[in-house]
Amino acid sequence: MQQKIIILDFGSQTTQLIGRRVRELDTFCEILPYNKFPKNDPSVIGVILSGSPFSVYDKEAFKINLDEIRGKYPILGICYGAQFMSYTLGGKVEPAETREYGRANLATFDKENPLFKGFEENSQVWMSHGDTITLLPDHFKVIASTDKVKNAAYQAEGEKLWGVQFHPEVFHSVQGTQLLKNFVVDICGGKQDWSAASFVDTTVAELKAQLGNDRVILGLSGGVDSSVAAVLLNRAIGKNLTCIFVDHGMLRKNEFKNVLHDYECLGLNVIGVDASEKFFKDLAGVTDPEQKRKIIGRDFVEVFDAEAKKITDAKWLAQGTIYPDRIESLNITGKTIKSHHNVGGLPEEMHLQLCEPLQWLFKDEVRRVGRQLGMPEHLITRHPFPGPGLAVRILGDITPEKVRILQDADDIFIQGLRDWGLYDKVWQAGVILLPIKSVGVMGDERTYERAVALRAVTSTDAMTADWAHLPYDFMAKVSNDIINKVKGVNRVCYDISSKPPSTIEWE
Ligand code: XMP
Repeated sequence: MQQKIIILDFGSQTTQLIGRRVRELDTFCEILPYNKFPKNDPSVIGVILSGSPFSVYDKEAFKINLDEIRGKYPILGICYGAQFMSYTLGGKVEPAETREYGRANLATFDKENPLFKGFEENSQVWMSHGDTITLLPDHFKVIASTDKVKNAAYQAEGEKLWGVQFHPEVFHSVQGTQLLKNFVVDICGGKQDWSAASFVDTTVAELKAQLGNDRVILGLSGGVDSSVAAVLLNRAIGKNLTCIFVDHGMLRKNEFKNVLHDYECLGLNVIGVDASEKFFKDLAGVTDPEQKRKIIGRDFVEVFDAEAKKITDAKWLAQGTIYPDRIESLNITGKTIKSHHNVGGLPEEMHLQLCEPLQWLFKDEVRRVGRQLGMPEHLITRHPFPGPGLAVRILGDITPEKVRILQDADDIFIQGLRDWGLYDKVWQAGVILLPIKSVGVMGDERTYERAVALRAVTSTDAMTADWAHLPYDFMAKVSNDIINKVKGVNRVCYDISSKPPSTIEWE
């Protein structure tokens, strides 16, 4: 049985980071909404309570019945999690005299406490709180303090229950990973046995048992997630997997042909459907970004559905949904702000059961699994690419000619990034075709042609991003090549906006 740590999410922005850190310890974990603790699950070995945007005394604050977990599992409360346990069990939490955000140092800590094994003097931690624990319950003892925060960490005496006011999951808590390791490995007994190889073995066995002789359909996008899902399923059920790869005409230059070839080399049973004409026809004259997305989504489902219906005995629809697509992050009102976007176009009338073998993995874990499966590196390290493709990078209406111009410019940029060894240093990159023309001069001739913007960002999850600081020499070369080689373009700009407040894509 795969052991797991449960992280209960009280709505903090850093909950996902806690998950990342635990996974980096090669221990499996699940992030669940605060009120969804799994009853009677023997694989649970410990519980972490996250931070929250609430104060414990807010009327709407998220609360749980601690009795359900206390004494049954080791518990670590982080920030709000620590305040909540302290407050609920008889302590006092009050607004701090000065709100504390940023670096602090553990001026004193209990060297004997297992939570601080390996800690150095004055270890730097990251604080982010407006409230502070002013009084601990009777049987709690302080195990660390900073200059400003007396109760920076505590343990309930005689219990495996700890609370820390700081955030061990963030990078700036220098020994934060050590603290989480102390909790997960030493205190909870996590075996650190999650590896790509063990994942592949267990998942292939599970898929064989789950799917038996059933036929499965999977939509390939050319991206990492659906490709890894396909190769994994192929290993489990071979020819009973049929993959469908739809060309909506807005892919990168030669992408349909190249990726199809890659898939065939991987031994996948794949049907390539060139539906670009239909998409171009339906998109003609449409300028509104959301309208474009809707048309592409609808057409995609129609094309996929028509193809899938030909496989009359299919019982399952497989998807490359990964964990960040599924995690329900809570906002202050308790509403779900992000959930399961990958399932968007699922053709419901197909009556297929859903199979999502990567649903518990983070992106870098998917890549590790891909490598384990022997997939080529260029498929594994591919940049993310939006589902509607170049359609959201052509501002204004879409024509085959505009797609051609954009494909050519994009190809120069992306190939340039590869040639200069920059491709793996950026999260994603692309070119945007702007809906303006400007004056230029080529030879002795005045030109009046299009402008394109290059976009390259660094990021870890696409939620926030910074513009990539690419070398000037590189940009000069790319700009020159685009203007000289791509007919119809006479101006190249570089987008230097970060997200937020901008977004990665322009539409
Ligand atoms: P933004 O532009 O919101 O993009 O900063 C964040 C990430 O999502 C991708 N993206 C999309 N992916 N369908 C998709 O499948 C879409 O409509 C879409 N819009 C943006 C974007 O490329 C980036 O990786």
